[in-house]
Amino acid sequence: MATKKMGVKRFAVGAGVAILIAASYSGCARKPKIQRGDTAAAAIATYVAPGDLDEFYLFYSGGQSGSIFVAGIPSLRHIATIPVFTPYPATGYGFDKETKAMLGGHLWGDMHHPALSQTNGDYDGRWLFANDNANNRIARIDLHDFKTKEIYGPLPNVSGNHGSTFVTPNTEYILSATRFSVPLPKGTYAPIEQYATSYKGVVAGVAVDPKTGHMSMGWEVLMPPFDFDLGSGGKGASDGWAFWSSYNTERATGKLEVTSTQKDRDYIAAVNWKAAEQAIKNGKFKTIGGTKVIDPKDTPGVVFLIPCSKSPHGVDVSPDGKYIVGSGKLASITTVFNIDKILNAIQTKNFTGNEDGIPVLNYDAVKDVEVNVGLGPLHTQFDDKGYAYTSLFVESAIAKWRMGPPWDVIDKIPVAYNIGHLCIPGSDTMHPVGKYVLALNKLSHGRHISVGPTQPESTQLIDITGDKMRLLYDAFTEPEPHYAQVIRVDRLKPIEVYSKEENKDPNAIWDVKDAGVTRNGKNVIVKMIAVRSTFTPTSFEVNQGDHVTVYLTNIEQTTNESHGFGMVDYDINILVDPGETRTIEFTADKSGVYAYYCTKFCSALHQEMQGYMLVKPGAGAKTALLRTPSGAPGGH
Ligand code: CUA
Repeated sequence: MATKKMGVKRFAVGAGVAILIAASYSGCARKPKIQRGDTAAAAIATYVAPGDLDEFYLFYSGGQSGSIFVAGIPSLRHIATIPVFTPYPATGYGFDKETKAMLGGHLWGDMHHPALSQTNGDYDGRWLFANDNANNRIARIDLHDFKTKEIYGPLPNVSGNHGSTFVTPNTEYILSATRFSVPLPKGTYAPIEQYATSYKGVVAGVAVDPKTGHMSMGWEVLMPPFDFDLGSGGKGASDGWAFWSSYNTERATGKLEVTSTQKDRDYIAAVNWKAAEQAIKNGKFKTIGGTKVIDPKDTPGVVFLIPCSKSPHGVDVSPDGKYIVGSGKLASITTVFNIDKILNAIQTKNFTGNEDGIPVLNYDAVKDVEVNVGLGPLHTQFDDKGYAYTSLFVESAIAKWRMGPPWDVIDKIPVAYNIGHLCIPGSDTMHPVGKYVLALNKLSHGRHISVGPTQPESTQLIDITGDKMRLLYDAFTEPEPHYAQVIRVDRLKPIEVYSKEENKDPNAIWDVKDAGVTRNGKNVIVKMIAVRSTFTPTSFEVNQGDHVTVYLTNIEQTTNESHGFGMVDYDINILVDPGETRTIEFTADKSGVYAYYCTKFCSALHQEMQGYMLVKPGAGAKTALLRTPSGAPGGH
């Protein structure tokens, strides 16, 4: 049965030797060694009684679903979905004119790492950024109303924006990096045999306007064709630096699980972003793909390479900014680098070589210690008591270890199963809250009622207030949480109604007397009001082929009173929140009579909230039924 296969993960280790490493979960034969713990204590610790509220917001990335999921901690109840890179009919995202334009014709995004904006190294509760690995974009969600307000991109020269979004301590920049190096500028052809020399990577800082949050390109640095993976902004002692892990520093192609694991070490790239800013100001850049790119060969002092265990995944900066932790996912150690030693090695030019003109720092001079955390270390998070927590993919566990002598592992907890990211509230700020760690696991089989072959992701809530970690709760989500951000509930004050004053839409109307239809040639404008439980106008007439624009204002000023607007046979649905105006544009290409109706249950007479669009047939008009219904004669 399927479970047999799941117990074993295949890894290529060393010089292309494929070996099988048994994950901690081994199918039906052996019961997984998972702590259940004290269930009564765990229940009390996670139970949020009816009417009570959670203590933290959890924002987790929706991976290839392109959305952000919002849950509460400790209950782990899913509360809302914020659509970002993918249309979402539940809120009409991607159906109205404004959000359609923002999506730019894309049907999906591959969201990886959400990042809350920061001021002075702490979450400021203003924005949540998220990256799209596939289409090289960065989105900004406004936490004032939990809606996506801007999608910036495609980022020039970046191909596979994986090492993103991580912010600097005052949200000066959002980090971005190329995962898949390509010939630059994009659109250039070079044969794959020229990968090592003609293909290029880029690391970048996307600037954020401190008042509006508006994004623009800050700087880019041309890099060798490594695969840049994850990033972290320096802070405190390392403020002014940005770090990215990279693999495939072999510059190999083909079967990367073999070809890119030949060398013992890959690199962490360290960029002095203040020097990058200065270089751009001083005109020390080339223009590639229409943007300013620093070539480190011509501008020394901007970027350095730190050797680290091969095939690293996460690179994480401690809350004081003193330590940079990098884990090689094929090793059992994680390396702690010291920013003072890094700065000293740079100052004394303690280099062991260079890559395309970028100095490589002496590993032994910049590392503080190697910690034997366990098998397959990926990411590290920090608490407020001087401990680090590293996720162990192969071992399916979290290791808790001391950030300081004797740098020992003091506890380990198994997770179900194969953990990727993990998240401690505020770990990426200067003031983490060492109360919980979330294990964001890749496999979930057997931990929930069966839902067929496509299994959900699994999230586990673990108490870290004591010496021993304590498993509290399992929860399951849509695919696929990569990283997450957690912030105290009292740090956010989202609005629930758009006040009339806040609605700046020039097409908003607030009185049913102003509702109606105007025509200009083939363009028909419908100004419509939604309020319990009527659309005004209740019907409107157009000619077949007309271009129709509906400006729909929900004039409710009461929380929870959103109205939907769906139109039968026209593939249209939006949601208009109280006090909001949204725009729908379409061509009335089908003649006949089409109902529009409220798609959100809003009152006892919600079902009565409906109207008709009447489309008069035009010359040579098609009939309404464009497709043969399946099952009908002549259908499939
Ligand atoms: Cu308005 Cu249902």
